[in-house]
Amino acid sequence: EEGISVKEYADRLGLKAQEVIMKLMGMGVMVTINQPIDPDAAVLLAESLGIGVEVQSEESEDVLLGTEGEDSGQLVSRPPVVTIMGHTDHGKTTLLDAIRKSKIAEAEAGGITQHIGAYTIMEKDRNITFLDTPGHEAFTAMRARGAKVTDVVILVVAADDGVMPQTVEAINHSKAANVPIIVALNKVDKPEANPDRVMQELSGLGLIPEEWGGQTIYCPVSAKKRTGLDHLLEMVLLQADVLDLKANPDRRSQGVVIESKLDKGRGPVATVLVQNGTLRVGDFLVVGGNFGRVRSLINDRGQRVQEVLPSFPAEVIGLDGVPQPGESFVVVEDEKSGRQVAQSRSLKQRSAQMIRQKKVSLEDFYTQM
Ligand code: GTP
Ligand code: MG
Repeated sequence: EEGISVKEYADRLGLKAQEVIMKLMGMGVMVTINQPIDPDAAVLLAESLGIGVEVQSEESEDVLLGTEGEDSGQLVSRPPVVTIMGHTDHGKTTLLDAIRKSKIAEAEAGGITQHIGAYTIMEKDRNITFLDTPGHEAFTAMRARGAKVTDVVILVVAADDGVMPQTVEAINHSKAANVPIIVALNKVDKPEANPDRVMQELSGLGLIPEEWGGQTIYCPVSAKKRTGLDHLLEMVLLQADVLDLKANPDRRSQGVVIESKLDKGRGPVATVLVQNGTLRVGDFLVVGGNFGRVRSLINDRGQRVQEVLPSFPAEVIGLDGVPQPGESFVVVEDEKSGRQVAQSRSLKQRSAQMIRQKKVSLEDFYTQM
């Protein structure tokens, strides 16, 4: 579907077409009567007039971007994306570091560990991407923005401490997001460690171990002594097989912002996770309400690369502003459609903010645009 024209839109809402055109102009959107109406503007305008409209945003943005229907028959398997969660001090950071150090040869990393918010390792000729932002805030922030980035959660539980409040929170978040959990029973090197007791506690929360007839995989590890890591990673790959994760590297890329910053020398820098398609230097990119052309891509080893495949992270340089973590990005065909999407997105963001703040009447809204 092409999206409805301004005239049709006005008819359906019982408005005069001229009135709609004027209001859209007030919002900075220039259209003629027979042109299709921008979906975001359509929703905004109706909302501002107190008229409820049905939103089919995903579909309509796809129409605008011309990305719908690109997936037929070209899907190939992609690496799993893993988030590590768990109670404070249970060893999330130590585990992330242990996996990185054990699985990325120092020589390959050039001796320098690059922290870009995510990294990809190789295990048995297959890749696994870890989001290097452990903790619930990142996960929740992403989810609040509707971004599903994680395929598998590794729940770290210290075997000498057991289930704690943030353990329960992590389980709830993962369940709400419908993401499978693999339990890493950490600190098994400690004499006080009592894995059996922890397994019992977690069983009470629905994570019944496979060996007890349940569905949950448990991996005893010591992040400190770096033991049990191979088994843990094997289990992640097994889970990935079950999930049958796929992407289409041939389509225009889309994904999500993991981290972002304003760098003195390089300008806005966003670490993105490519979720579909292949991201390339030179691509036109819309990120949240920002727009840009990819000037350079830097992988998690600090190397400049020409392209980034699905489930891999990279730093993107070339944006006109700093996007928020959790915001999604899409590659668009040309600069014009990019600016259009970015504009309608930032319009939507600003109006949502104003409406939240309840600061403005409808008239103020238009004069402030
Ligand atoms: P927050 O970031 O505060 O939530 O903590 P975290 O979960 O990242 O824990 P972190 O990795 O910082 O580890 C906390 C403490 O536990 C540190 O002193 C680690 O050295 C120690 N630790 C982590 N893993 C192990 C382990 O396998 N064995 C032992 N003995 N100590 C560990
Ligand atoms: Mg930590």
